[in-house]
Amino acid sequence: MKIFIDTANLDEIKEIASWGILDGVTTNPTLLAREVERTGKRPNAVLREICGMVKGPVTAEVTSKDAEGIVNEGKKLRELAENICIKIPVCKDGLLAIKKLRDEDIMTNTTLVFSANQALLAAKAGTNFVSPFIGRMDDVGNEGMEIVDQLVTIFDNYCIETEVVVASVRHPMHIVEAALIGADVCTIPYNVILKMLDHPLTDVGIERFLKDWGKIKPK
Ligand code: E4P
Repeated sequence: MKIFIDTANLDEIKEIASWGILDGVTTNPTLLAREVERTGKRPNAVLREICGMVKGPVTAEVTSKDAEGIVNEGKKLRELAENICIKIPVCKDGLLAIKKLRDEDIMTNTTLVFSANQALLAAKAGTNFVSPFIGRMDDVGNEGMEIVDQLVTIFDNYCIETEVVVASVRHPMHIVEAALIGADVCTIPYNVILKMLDHPLTDVGIERFLKDWGKIKPK
């Protein structure tokens, strides 16, 4: 399973990229606005910098609502870097734009997906990635991971190449569940990536080994 980081924070991306585990980055208007406020940099400057930090896709979300606007915005964003992937909310105009951008070989990630039918239509239109928002579904009392299971099965049934990106991840078990189901990608916030490493028995184990080693004087 590929690991993307779900942030626009340049420091977080730099740190996790240095571990050699990062396959891509997802941003959205909320995350990008947060980084623009934090750094005082312009949105496109932030995006360009992120694109230079990873080889894989970096999603940048459009804010236009009509197909023509989405396509124009997508083409402009694509000029920033080769690994930019245009994030488009799933809707009628979004589908039209996905098709047009696909015809120009521009990568797209269909976002705000909350049903298998939405993802199926986006895949048929030619999107490269679909992003079901697991945590937001859990938040309203649904079992978010069910849609991931459905999508992996449906895409396997018909050899659909669109990749399933598990998004809106809230805790480490979401990642284990996504990997067991066979999702292509999990996009994970920085704090949850750090939690993936944590285990109290590892900390206790390291402490005990070092304590025991300290009792002897190696010759
Ligand atoms: C996905 O690409 C989105 O940026 C993200 O996962 C949204 O997550 P949230 O529900 O934590 O805002």
